[in-house]
Formats: sequence, C-alpha cells, structure tokens
Amino acid sequence: MAIKKIRDDIYSVRAIDWGRRLFDELIPLPDGTSYNAYLIRGSEKIALIDTVDPAKENVLINNLKRLGISNIDYIIAHHAEQDHSGSIPKILEIYPNAKVVTNLKCKNMLMDLLLISEDRFIEVKDWETISLGNKTLQFVMTPWVHWPETMVTYLKEDKILFPCDFLGSHYASSDLYVTDEAKVYESAKRYYAEIMMPFRLNIRKNLEKLKELEIKIIAPSHGQIYDNPGFILDAYRDWISDDVKNEVIIPYVSMHGSTEKMVEYFMDSLMEKGITVKPFNLTVTDIGELAIALVDAATVVIASPTVLVGPHPSAVYAAFLANALRPKTKFASVIGSYGWGGKMIDQIVGMLGNLKVELLSTVMVKGFPKKEDFKALDDLVEEIFKKHKTLT
Ligand code: FEO
Repeated sequence: MAIKKIRDDIYSVRAIDWGRRLFDELIPLPDGTSYNAYLIRGSEKIALIDTVDPAKENVLINNLKRLGISNIDYIIAHHAEQDHSGSIPKILEIYPNAKVVTNLKCKNMLMDLLLISEDRFIEVKDWETISLGNKTLQFVMTPWVHWPETMVTYLKEDKILFPCDFLGSHYASSDLYVTDEAKVYESAKRYYAEIMMPFRLNIRKNLEKLKELEIKIIAPSHGQIYDNPGFILDAYRDWISDDVKNEVIIPYVSMHGSTEKMVEYFMDSLMEKGITVKPFNLTVTDIGELAIALVDAATVVIASPTVLVGPHPSAVYAAFLANALRPKTKFASVIGSYGWGGKMIDQIVGMLGNLKVELLSTVMVKGFPKKEDFKALDDLVEEIFKKHKTLT
C-alpha cells in the first residue's frame, strides 16, 4: 500500500480496507474504511502513532520496511479497540526496543485484550509530552470517544492533531487528504451517528478542551486527513449542539398494508405543514441511513403492525437502535395497526427509556385505517407542528 508523506519525516503508513462492509459485525460500511497509522521520525526518536487492524498487519509491516525503519522507540496507543491496537503485539515483536505509550486505563485494557506485558508500557498523563528530539508529542485525554480510555496526540511543532477514532470517517480512498467535502461530510456524519452519538456530551467537553490547540491538520485513524480542520470541527459542533431540525423520521414496517397506508397519509399531512419527512422502510433500509437521520431530527415516529401481541421485530430493532444511539431528538410517537389486540405501542414506548423525549399522542388502528383514524393522524401532525414551532 502506498506510503504517503504528510510533512518531512511524517508519513501515513495506513492500510486501506476497500472491501470491508461490516464493522463489529454490526455497522454497515458502504465505502469500506482505512486504518490510519502514522510514522514520525524525530531527530532522536521514532514514534508510530497507532497500528492497524490485525487483518492488515502485513501492510503496516511492509510500509515500515519500505521506509527503512529498523527501530521504533514509541508506539502511541490512543485507543484499545483492536482495529488500532490489534497489531501492537506484532510490532513489539519486530521492534524489541519499542514501548507502548498510553494512559493507565488504556494500558490496563491492552494488557487484558492483547496480553501485552506491563514492562512494555510507558504511562502518560493528561497534557504530558514526549520528545522525539526536534518533534514533541503532547497527549490529551479525551475519554469516551467512544471508549473510556481514548486519548489524542498533538504534534506541537507541526500543529497536527492525531485524534484516532475522534473526527474520523469510514471511507476508503487513495487520496490522503479530503478531496470531496460533501462525500466526506456524509461518511463522517454516518460515523458520528453510529459510533459517537451516544457520547455527544462527552464529545462536547473534549472538543472544548481541544480548543486550546492551534490545529493545522487533523489526521484521524479512519478515513481521509483534514487539511481544513474547520470543516470537520464545524460539522461536529453542529451535530453535538442541542439544535434539532424541523424533521420527522419515520422508521416503519407494514405486513398487510394498514400501517403503510397510515404512514403514507401521515407523511402527506406532515409535508402539507412544511415539515420535512424521512421515511425508512425497515425491511430494506440501510440502518446507517436511519442513524444519520437521527443526528438532528426533532421527532421520531415509529410505525409498526402487531405481530402476535407485540411490535414487528424490525420495529423492535429500530426502537432499540434509537434508544442505544441516544440522539438529541425532542419528541417521539408510535403509530400502527393490529388485528385482534396486543400491546405493540406500550412495548415500543417501553424501549425508549434512554431518549430524553416528550412522548406525543399515539395512534393505533384496528385493521385498515378509517375516517376517524386519519383524523387521529391529522391531530398528531398538528401536535408535532405546534411542538416544532416551540423550537424556533
Ligand atoms: Fe476505530 Fe473504536 O476503533
């Protein structure tokens, strides 16, 4: 894989995973991903910033060989998750003088997860520095983006921030730097939605903390490098803010057409009120698209038929996801249909405990929707319209 020079003596030694389509056997990766490791050659010491997923460790090893690296002094471990740490044991084996530089929490996790012995670590604290001679690495603790041990490194002389997962995107590209901001915005938003959104308030604190640094380049551990840091920092400030958009997202599933008829009517009625609608047919939707929509919509309305006595399993999954991702959504409702009874609405509402939402009226229809059911949907639209008005 091509080594790319960022500055004199600073290289990207990444591995691109073009074909990966699922992360953690859970998160869709429509654009693949990359595991970005970086090599910094100081006048006295050499540091490797993170490693790569163990499936790609040979790419990293070859990159280091091609750069003629015969000794590594420090392996900076920002995060214990294996897509960055998983090749550390192999690098320690090849470079026996190398020490893993990280914080106490990450050290303990790496000892558990990768069985690295304690004598291979150097522990650092918040804002501590390590000199490579003519280059200085400064470590800043940024917990909970998205694990408790996460930290970032600031290369002082070159004003480069290495934030690991933070600010990254799952986007495989041969171009090192962002070339298409619209494309990267979408990938980074998906990444934020799926991985970072549950930690929105921690991220807000960490972004505030990083304000102290003058940053010229942001070099994350997934996706492309930002030579215009304001692009991604501004996007994050928007996503983590409390502001929501005049949007209703409607994850829905329908078995025999009743719920679908309700959703169609409901959407038309919302649109007539000038409210943006984003429907997601759960039988075919990319769940990542739903996660992206959850980043800034004011309202979520889950629509489900009744299966046996409860919600359709696809609606359960959507409710579970929304609850787990903890978006800043302000209002929620459930609509749907049943044949002979059940507790579909109660069960879905019971799954949304993490959401700090105001629960609006719900609409449950027996069989196919009738005149009074459409009236109930109109009333719900009116309620949403009024609630959204309070946000502006
Ligand atoms: Fe890219 Fe949390 O690992």
